Amino acid sequence: MQKISKIQHLTADGSPTLYMEQFDEYYHSKHGAIQEALHVYLKMGFTHWQQQNPKRTDCRVFEMGFGTGLNAFLTAEAASNSNIEVLFDSIEAYPLAAEEVKEVGYSAYFKGERKQLFEQIIDCPWERETQISSHFNLIKRHTSLENYSFQSSYDLVYYDAFGARTQPELWEDNCFPAIVENLNPGGVFVTYSAKGSVRRALERLGLSVSLVPGPPGKREMIQAVRPLL
Ligand SMILES: C[S@@+](CC[C@H](N)C(=O)[O-])C[C@H]1O[C@@H](n2cnc3c(N)ncnc32)[C@H](O)[C@@H]1O
Repeated sequence: MQKISKIQHLTADGSPTLYMEQFDEYYHSKHGAIQEALHVYLKMGFTHWQQQNPKRTDCRVFEMGFGTGLNAFLTAEAASNSNIEVLFDSIEAYPLAAEEVKEVGYSAYFKGERKQLFEQIIDCPWERETQISSHFNLIKRHTSLENYSFQSSYDLVYYDAFGARTQPELWEDNCFPAIVENLNPGGVFVTYSAKGSVRRALERLGLSVSLVPGPPGKREMIQAVRPLL
């Protein structure tokens, strides 16, 4: 996948994303990259986790698919705004070069301090924990889900793989047991997908699964919670 040519694309909310012509696949929703990320991962994920765990002041996030770093950036902003200390642990099988990410256009889209924060996330080294701000530490790991062995447990999972049409193997039942085993009680799993087989796989693993309204252009998405002990 590393040799696939990627083209910048402006989505409906004015924010950019990457498009892979060979797969006819986007890194984010063409209906609005930022809108989608804010809805799926921040509102239905981070904010929902806070509502479920109002006494917590720290949160460990696991992201499947670092991509352009957009989810990491929006979570770093949310962490400061909500006074929650976040450790954001993200895996990526096909890392984009920092220059490639900058060409997507977020560095021009975000201004001032936001631009600085975004670039810190993109420029920081891989494979080691880096303090990005007072409320946000980041670990970017160059590995695939298939080869990843979890070393800690998480409060929140962002499952942000490419769609099942492009990468069906990332939506099979065997993708989820290790993730769910490492999700803390009261923890939240979110993905933009509403796929029935994924919903049933998560239910079989003991999660309480809801289909909640999706971002613009998508009727529903999966939000799942690991019940408290
Ligand atoms: C939808 S994009 C993620 C977008 C990203 N979260 C963002 O904020 O820009 C999916 C990502 O999953 C990565 N990916 C594909 N196969 C993978 C695998 N087996 N393990 C880990 N990451 C994978 C892709 O390279 C791509 O960056």
